[in-house]
Amino acid sequence: MKNFTCVQDIGDLDTALQEAFEIKKERFKYVETGRNKTLMMIFFNSSLRTRLSTQKAALNLGMNVIVLDINQGAWKLETERGVIMDGDKPEHLLEAIPVMGCYCDVIGVRSFARFEDRNYDYEEVILNQFIKYSGRPVFSMEAATRHPLQSFADLITIEEYKKTARPKVVMTWAPHPRALPQAVPNSFAEWMNAADYDFVITHPEGYELDSKFVGNARVEYDQMKAFEGADFVYAKNWAAYTGDNYGKILCTDRAWTVSDRQMAVTNNAYFMHCLPVRRNMIVTDEVIESPQSIVIPEAANREISATVVLKRLIESLG
Ligand code: CP
Repeated sequence: MKNFTCVQDIGDLDTALQEAFEIKKERFKYVETGRNKTLMMIFFNSSLRTRLSTQKAALNLGMNVIVLDINQGAWKLETERGVIMDGDKPEHLLEAIPVMGCYCDVIGVRSFARFEDRNYDYEEVILNQFIKYSGRPVFSMEAATRHPLQSFADLITIEEYKKTARPKVVMTWAPHPRALPQAVPNSFAEWMNAADYDFVITHPEGYELDSKFVGNARVEYDQMKAFEGADFVYAKNWAAYTGDNYGKILCTDRAWTVSDRQMAVTNNAYFMHCLPVRRNMIVTDEVIESPQSIVIPEAANREISATVVLKRLIESLG
């Protein structure tokens, strides 16, 4: 695996899952794999889980780790080519990236959508510049359009908890006070389609995702209908994707907050969320604290997905 930015990069899902469960049983089995190899983690945006779980994954593999928060202590970076750099940004990403590549063997990048220009976000300009100019294998720690380490962890979690071969998985939009990117729902949809579960997406009208991510999912605008018989409920907010509404909040209806009312019509579904989650906006206290909430094991699996991905990237170094 040369880079890891989407579900296609992981290859056969069954093989990846087997590897994940093997590592989960024996986390330090491959502690020699990363000896004298250095991971550099570049954060353009904040993180708790991705930062800690990916660092832990690197330690599982015996790697050294360098973490850089671009907005805390680094030079402010210009990201656009052709700009006359007479403003407050003294360094260009096109020098900074190859310099970063000099000091490490693998690079992880977190760079969210900016919501200024949909094409810019969906072309993944920042992530692709790292791939092009760093000279190193690059993996996404959540980019503008996908969060594959999260989705891989979500898949591992569903495989651990599912009671039928092809569970019904419902991804539901839920309200949030700020406009959030589509990276998590896009990515979750991509991985659920690849896993071939019975996959349903529910959201208010106007929140349609890019059809390339929706794939074979059924879209149901009636949330209660979507929840009927669900085995897993995956809640997430996202801002509008379509047309001039890109990046806008179109609905604040708290009836979409996941509560006992919706969970009552499921097949005693497990509740999932990538975290951080705003309680009583996305999900009620009662649901997230219920025995059916698996948000903590889901977060714990971030260490496992990151260990598999880092191991494969190191192996690609030859
Ligand atoms: N789920 C997730 O990526 O969490 P962080 O934003 O805290 O890394």
